[in-house]
Amino acid sequence: PPQKSWSGRFSVPVAETVKRYTASVLFDKRLAAYDIQGSLAHAQMLCEVGILTEGDFSAIQHGLAVIRQEVEQDRFPWTLDDEDVHLNIEKRLTQLVGDAGKRLHTGRSRNDQVATDIRLYLRAAIDQHQVQLRALQCALICLAEQHVDTLMPGFTHLQVAQPVSFAHHLLAYVEMLGRDRQRLTDCRQRVNQLPLGAAALAGTSYPIRRERVAELLGFEGLCRNSLDAVSDRDFAIEYCAAASLLMVHLSRLSEELILWMSPRFNFVRIGDAFCTGSSIMPQKRNPDVPELVRGKSGRIIGHLMGLLVLMKGQPLAYNKDNQEDKEPLFDTVETLSQTLIIYTEMMGDVQVNAVALRQAAQEGFSTATDLADYLVKKGTPFRDAHEIVARAVRHAESEGCDLADLPLTTLRTFSSIIGSDVHAVLTLEGSVASRDIPGGTAPTRVRSALQEARQRWDHA
Ligand code: ARG
Repeated sequence: PPQKSWSGRFSVPVAETVKRYTASVLFDKRLAAYDIQGSLAHAQMLCEVGILTEGDFSAIQHGLAVIRQEVEQDRFPWTLDDEDVHLNIEKRLTQLVGDAGKRLHTGRSRNDQVATDIRLYLRAAIDQHQVQLRALQCALICLAEQHVDTLMPGFTHLQVAQPVSFAHHLLAYVEMLGRDRQRLTDCRQRVNQLPLGAAALAGTSYPIRRERVAELLGFEGLCRNSLDAVSDRDFAIEYCAAASLLMVHLSRLSEELILWMSPRFNFVRIGDAFCTGSSIMPQKRNPDVPELVRGKSGRIIGHLMGLLVLMKGQPLAYNKDNQEDKEPLFDTVETLSQTLIIYTEMMGDVQVNAVALRQAAQEGFSTATDLADYLVKKGTPFRDAHEIVARAVRHAESEGCDLADLPLTTLRTFSSIIGSDVHAVLTLEGSVASRDIPGGTAPTRVRSALQEARQRWDHA
């Protein structure tokens, strides 16, 4: 049987079951490109300080280039015998270029190597998410631009509250996604620190130049403590926390889309390309995409919990437990990427039923607060105004009509202060136009909010 890289100390080969149980190559081979990138920088630095000869370095460069191609073309001979991505690549390098390959690991351990690989992987993922998030924000802004004057019921407790612009509602999500982007930017700074040089846990006795490796790999700084560098995965946990919040935001929007798609609401229609049918009920058009996003948010939150629990009992420094960080992390990155892409496409295919939105806004006494404010402006204390309007609403409800449908004479039985100018206040347009403060739903405010959003978020 092939020898393990560390088999020298052992008298019997590792059990087959143990080999399978401890190997991570089936999933961590996803790190291959970053492992190669890290090794090239490490080797270059070793050569620059005179630990590797020029000849060894160019042999390593050549070998790693061959390996990169083999990986990309899916013909790299991955084997469980070599445990993980790091040993697989190192073994193959040695096959390809001989002793130079065996010298690559000088001054390095798999512990600082894997931490470096994950950081490179996560940095690239975050940069990709930034582009994806920007596209999603753009899709929401585009839809909003068409619906500044589309009025809908704003809800609290899922009961009709006050009318709002549909664009204003969409811009709420643009804000949430903006904070998600900021969280990822912030997290990136802590991801982008170099662990290499920490070696197994204590640092290395070779005169290596960590700053040079950081520079070559584009890291902003060095992990300052070798024990911390190899053992903590807080940067990955932080990323998963940001991803969880982001998924929670998308889950809320999904929940709304699902409700809005229901014939009971009939507020929007999501394009056929994003819906599916039923195998038994011919009439069905199901909002599978938003439902799955809502469902997958649970999976991402689960990964966050998994990583937190993975970390909590570990003494310093590296423990093999950490190998379990990869599957949740990879799944989070991939699920999030796919979700952002499909969500952007779907938001481009949403048709808004402005008539139904308007009708719903007119149904639930959504301008009752406006009537109270009207009375206050004419001198009635707010608490009395609240009471007066509540009685008027009860009356309208028993008549089966809206406040705006009550004749002036009827309205005046609730308060003689009410004049003929009241009906302007009771319209949906009057109501939204009066919310004319920063952050409010008045169409003029929404229009400038849209412009600002375009400027603020239109960068990767
Ligand atoms: N596959 C390992 C991991 O993912 C690499 C580090 C292993 N180090 C060790 N001393 N066994 O964490």
